[in-house]
Amino acid sequence: MDFLDILKYPESSLFEPSKQISDIDAALQQQIDQMINTLYFSRGLGLAAPQVGDLRSFFVYDLSQADEAKVEHSGPIIVLNPEILETEGEETADEGCLSIPGYFEKVSRSYRVLMKGLDREGKEIRIEAEGLAARLFQHEIDHINGVLMISRISSLKRDIFLRKFKKQNKNAETG
Ligand code: NI
Repeated sequence: MDFLDILKYPESSLFEPSKQISDIDAALQQQIDQMINTLYFSRGLGLAAPQVGDLRSFFVYDLSQADEAKVEHSGPIIVLNPEILETEGEETADEGCLSIPGYFEKVSRSYRVLMKGLDREGKEIRIEAEGLAARLFQHEIDHINGVLMISRISSLKRDIFLRKFKKQNKNAETG
């Protein structure tokens, strides 16, 4: 099985927007399979293509191992060209990111969303979700737009993150 390297903050391509997918070809199918392998290998709940340096609009997810596991979000589920159509409510909860290992912080997101996209065969899908799944969709679509969760926290918390990050890197260089 092939695994892809997950890019880590502050890799510049994590801040670039992705392009819509128009060709669903064999190469894309292979990349989707590698993304799924990488998702399970890294024990993440979701993985967006830009996190492996692929600037195309898609993500994979599987919430079957999550506390709030629901059968409709047990995967792997693949969403190409995802788009949020409706949002409702708000919820603040802890969030993490495979591209920012070891960092968890409270992020406010819409509580319920309706998302549309395409499955891997190119068929239109609509998924309604609340709580964790809704949070995951918003987090992955942010990746597709070149936005990381640290842009969704207060500037005070971001300053603390940046200071810690700099310190860690300094320590890595000296020791
Ligand atoms: Ni992430």
